[in-house]
Amino acid sequence: MKDLTPRKEDLDPIEIASRDEIAALQVHRLKWSLNHAYENVPHYRKSFDAAGVHPDDLRQMSDLAKFPFTVKSDLRDNYPFGMFAVPREKVLRIHASSGTTGKPTVVGYTKNDIEVWADCMARSMRASGTRPGDIVHIAYGYGLFTGGLGAHYGAERLGCTVVPVSGGMTQRQVTLIEDFRASTIMVTPSYILSILDEYRAQGLDPRESPLQVGIFGAEPWTNAMRAEIEDAFDMHAVDIYGLSEVMGPGVANECVETKDGLHIWEDHFYPEIIDPTTGEPVADGEKGELVFTSLTKEAFPIIRYRTRDLTRLLPGTARSMRRMEKITGRTDDMMILRGVNVFPTQIEEQILTVRGLAPHFQIELLREGRMDEMIVHVEAAIDHAAAEARSASAAALCQRIKDTVGITVKVQVTEPETVARSQGKAVRILDNRPKS
Ligand code: DLL
Repeated sequence: MKDLTPRKEDLDPIEIASRDEIAALQVHRLKWSLNHAYENVPHYRKSFDAAGVHPDDLRQMSDLAKFPFTVKSDLRDNYPFGMFAVPREKVLRIHASSGTTGKPTVVGYTKNDIEVWADCMARSMRASGTRPGDIVHIAYGYGLFTGGLGAHYGAERLGCTVVPVSGGMTQRQVTLIEDFRASTIMVTPSYILSILDEYRAQGLDPRESPLQVGIFGAEPWTNAMRAEIEDAFDMHAVDIYGLSEVMGPGVANECVETKDGLHIWEDHFYPEIIDPTTGEPVADGEKGELVFTSLTKEAFPIIRYRTRDLTRLLPGTARSMRRMEKITGRTDDMMILRGVNVFPTQIEEQILTVRGLAPHFQIELLREGRMDEMIVHVEAAIDHAAAEARSASAAALCQRIKDTVGITVKVQVTEPETVARSQGKAVRILDNRPKS
């Protein structure tokens, strides 16, 4: 893999500014953001008043802890445009969640918000090793999901040639990567695995592909998966994070030269980690739920939004801004098996240590009597698909999970091409327990 470390002179100066400079900018911007939310969004006025706080109470960053959290149901309760802080006519773009678990959450962007988003995305792509003039293949979904258009505007801002393919039609993805010679691909980590299978199905060597950088996010993935993808394609695999409520992709991104967690673009998004049960902020380095406050957003300011994503904050390395460790999972995805907390990422890590297994899996939850049971459905690697090899792989995975995670699960190693494929975010958990 090529050294794609960006030149210092190509970075935004704030990326390598002193912590003092960053902190001064943050306090200044946070005051503006709190006032903007309070003055223009009835929900924030009500919730601040109920908590007995006013934007003027913020003198230093630690005062932010006095302000109330915002949660997903606040956004749903104000469906569709009730959280907007500018007249609707000033909103240039709408995005929304899929709404599979209720009313979708709707977010909006002013002209300036779209500009800032494009800047953050361009910064993220540069950190990933992409350069002006590169050909960028975007296989994140376009539409109400923020992945496709977010990546698109960032790639244009950086000065790349954009191939806006969106998700799906996997054969065509491979053809276009090969014919147009894309050097960067932006796609979910689970969908790159389908693209990888398609390379092999077409008899092409993925290591000979033109791809040099993959920018993967929108769902949790592990360092073990990074190693698998980097080796398969002989390219850099970097992590990008974001969420529509806070902006979309490009809130945080890894640097290609270190790949040691995601630098949060703290000049626009202020992170906190809280204890998910008590809501109390915890110190940097401690694990908990990630909370974000926007510092510059006009149409949709968001104050202390509880993301439900679990991680910890670490000091800056390749950039001055703090890092977040790769996300372990969402609080909603935490499974509890006989008292042990388990996340799909822990299962993924173990699957990748067993040679006879492909990285396609789903976890089924069942209830036997009063006990929850877990079945890991995972595919055999093509050259380990015979019945005997499959039962050996199943036994190996069972043992690994028992030794490392500390739980006993059932493992079903299925034939290749049998586990449901994603063309976007993978569905990892099938909850077939009786609804209580
Ligand atoms: O998934 C935005 C995005 C698009 C990010 C493309 C990166 C690339 P939402 O659909 O609102 O937005 O989902 C946000 O996805 O709270 C996390 O749970 C999860 N997520 C996003 N990026 C990562 C990541 C987009 N790198 C939710 N690692 C977030 C783990 C991620 N989880």
